[in-house]
Amino acid sequence: MITNDNMKQLISLKRSLTDKTEEILNSQIVMEGKSSAYYLSMASWCERSGYSNSAQFLYKHSEEERMHMLKIFHYINDAGGHALQPEITGIRHDFGSLREIFELILEHEISVTRSINNIVDHCFSTKDFTTFSFLQWYVTEQREEETLARRAVELFDIIGEAGIGLWTIDQEIGKLEQNAALAIASQA
Ligand SMILES: [Fe+2]
Ligand SMILES: [Fe+2]
Repeated sequence: MITNDNMKQLISLKRSLTDKTEEILNSQIVMEGKSSAYYLSMASWCERSGYSNSAQFLYKHSEEERMHMLKIFHYINDAGGHALQPEITGIRHDFGSLREIFELILEHEISVTRSINNIVDHCFSTKDFTTFSFLQWYVTEQREEETLARRAVELFDIIGEAGIGLWTIDQEIGKLEQNAALAIASQA
């Protein structure tokens, strides 16, 4: 007879995703969801401050972060786990300058890379090569995201903020993504 207890056991035998891996993937969902909310808030600040290219860049990035979150959602559920909608609170709405925004993005992306690396390390040491392989997409993505954020921060030193500097920086931020993609493709 199949009781509730042995049914639970049968179900758990039908998944290779461990509880621990499910838990840390859910933590990464929180991080990607926070990135999406953080960039949306930054986009709004840029839009109302007149930095329309930066705003557009950040609205698009907010959408991308949501896509990063959803990819993990589907992975967890497909693997027999339960993806959890994250609680997202404490998102900052005000920023001191356009430069501060891009410095915060770079800092944030570095912390995301660190988090992804920790999960990859966990998957490798627990021989969860399925999740390890799934995460390779994030490893590559983080490299691109960090490069992009670093290029944006560099613009402030290269161009300078005086006079029409900030206006020019905003224009260049609009072209950044295309330039970064070309730079990465040339190194491949
Ligand atoms: Fe992300
Ligand atoms: Fe990101």
